[in-house]
Amino acid sequence: MSETPATEPEREQQGAGDGVIVTRALTKRYRGGQLAVDGLDLTVPADSVFGFLGPNGSGKTTTIRMLMGLIEPTSGSAHVLGRPMPRSVRAVLPHVGALIEGPALYGFLSGRDNLLRYDAADPAADPRTRRARVAAALDRVGLAAAAGKKAKAYSLGMKQRLGLAAALLQPRKLLVLDEPTNGLDPQGMREIRSLIRELASDGTTVFLSSHLLDEIEQVCTHAAVMAQGRLITQGPVADLAAGTRGRLVVTTPDAADAARTLKEQGAADVVIAEDRVSAEPPQDRDLAEVNAALVAAGVRVRGFGVERASLEDAFVALTGEGFDVAG
Ligand SMILES: Nc1ncnc2c1ncn2[C@@H]1O[C@H](COP(=O)(O)OP(=O)(O)OP(=O)(O)O)[C@@H](O)[C@H]1O
Ligand SMILES: [Mg+2]
Repeated sequence: MSETPATEPEREQQGAGDGVIVTRALTKRYRGGQLAVDGLDLTVPADSVFGFLGPNGSGKTTTIRMLMGLIEPTSGSAHVLGRPMPRSVRAVLPHVGALIEGPALYGFLSGRDNLLRYDAADPAADPRTRRARVAAALDRVGLAAAAGKKAKAYSLGMKQRLGLAAALLQPRKLLVLDEPTNGLDPQGMREIRSLIRELASDGTTVFLSSHLLDEIEQVCTHAAVMAQGRLITQGPVADLAAGTRGRLVVTTPDAADAARTLKEQGAADVVIAEDRVSAEPPQDRDLAEVNAALVAAGVRVRGFGVERASLEDAFVALTGEGFDVAG
């Protein structure tokens, strides 16, 4: 019995496997020889808020440019919404809202007119609803009051918000946001984060890059960690941090004595901050023994516990480096 051959879209779907974004051995070497992305295997599950995390120069924007069909990979493949990129760019992009480093704006036009013009360039956009959609997008990103101001007079954070508004003019299956909170003040960051959560709860998959660990912990369900063009790990955020042991924290007025005893007990990386002493817990010892040793040494222990590991702990454990290393 002969099998029915798969139609082209089905075949592409099969090639993509599970995931809204799937890359296999995706690699980009720039003309100058710089290996910016090195054999990346990424799987972004549907309905996730997926954080793409890495220090400056780790290859985040290069990856996003390949996903959006803006640059060709040197080798490997990328599927977005089940279709190969950049080959299916025309079919895929109408379903994707994107904010990529430094949104292109017309400085002489107002924020509102920039969006009207941007929307008019989209053949899939309905001109009858254009004004209403532009107003709604401006409102969503908190730019309604500044909508009439010329874009050249916008601050970096306002430009970033306008770029985000452009990505929100139509309902999308996928949003790809390159450092969406870049240039925003803390209040602006909170607003954008809550907007991202809201979009996700409406069923949009959100892929966002960031070099801010706590940002990823706050908004993302899943994350991938990059360093120097390579994927270090990916998975649900809770699992990434759970694989790492948290730090032992002792609260005491006798911090120096506590630090000495902890070192004797085999704790590493002992740090004193006023009445708080933290350390990597010893590998081979029960924490109850460590606590008993502190008390036996005359340390007045007011607090003793292991902190939940953060994504930052996981990153340091995985790379052996602090997070803010240049690529
Ligand atoms: N057009 C280009 N030509 C040559 N090299 C490039 C180009 N764009 C980026 N690179 C290099 O590729 C590497 C990855 O850069 P990329 O912009 O993808 O990093 P990133 O993770 O987005 O960093 P950031 O957090 O600073 O935005 C860097 O070493 C960078 O210098
Ligand atoms: Mg970048």
